[in-house]
Amino acid sequence: MIKQKKRKGIILAGGSGSRLNPITKATSKQLIPIYDKPMIYYPLTTLMMIGIKDILLICSPSYLESFKNLLGNGENWGISIKYICQEKPEGIAQAFILGEEFINNNPSVLILGDNLFYGNEISQILNEANLDEEGATLFTYPVIDPERYGIVNLDKNKKVISIEEKPTKPQSNLAITGVYFYDKDVVTYAKSLSPSKRGELEITDINKLYLKKEKLKVKSFSRGIAWLDTGTFDALHEASSFIRTIERRQGLKIGCPEEVAWRSGFIDDVKLKRIANSNLNTSYGEYLVDLISKRL
Ligand code: TTP
Repeated sequence: MIKQKKRKGIILAGGSGSRLNPITKATSKQLIPIYDKPMIYYPLTTLMMIGIKDILLICSPSYLESFKNLLGNGENWGISIKYICQEKPEGIAQAFILGEEFINNNPSVLILGDNLFYGNEISQILNEANLDEEGATLFTYPVIDPERYGIVNLDKNKKVISIEEKPTKPQSNLAITGVYFYDKDVVTYAKSLSPSKRGELEITDINKLYLKKEKLKVKSFSRGIAWLDTGTFDALHEASSFIRTIERRQGLKIGCPEEVAWRSGFIDDVKLKRIANSNLNTSYGEYLVDLISKRL
């Protein structure tokens, strides 16, 4: 039996966050709240939900200590979190060069630190890509403003014809979302790239290389799934409202690492209770207590 390699998770949480100025003058975009939790909790728990326990967080040097204060080494949640700094936002694809040692010839999954995924099929769909160790898998989502994203053009048999980064005249409305699965070759591909006109190593160029080698798979998220990116004031507000609406209706939290760790069996009741006790007299702590006592 061929032993499956463990996929490594990377959360990219650098960038300049210029669209959120002046908030991002003094803090990282991915540390600001989406309703009741820091933004980074959402992509982190997306990875945890598909069983990714070995995680690298890439951030700008100015906020390394803040991320470490918030997330620690992951031990509380039964996972491992390592850190690396990206000195300047020189492109999403740079994550694989910075993460070469961490990836260590394993398959990897990259998630953008400001992307939020929600929906009951999300784990299952992502898990299929997780188990597929060959090539690359991307996910598309229909949007009304494709010119803001990397997009894919499909032929009538749903085969990918081309990928374009922020096209002025988009031929499709299928945006590429911020979660990308790659085989081990992604590091070599990333190293072969040259910076684009805007001075970045483009993730789109990596995807084009996989397309050229006929190793690119593109799956679509249906309208039943929510994909929100949170880079503008309105998007931030909408994401917070969305999370608040669902959480208040159901009494269940979205993107709670303690809960995901507990439900996934990464931590047991004793450990969850210990974390809950250290957050007593907060609504967050009470929620954790209820998870155990009421088996929510
Ligand atoms: P963007 O939203 O494209 O860029 P940004 O976060 O710097 O924001 P703005 O456009 O307002 O200046 O980035 C998408 C995600 O990728 C976000 O989580 C930041 C991250 N990122 C990096 O960590 N390093 C990079 O070099 C780039 C380009 C993005």
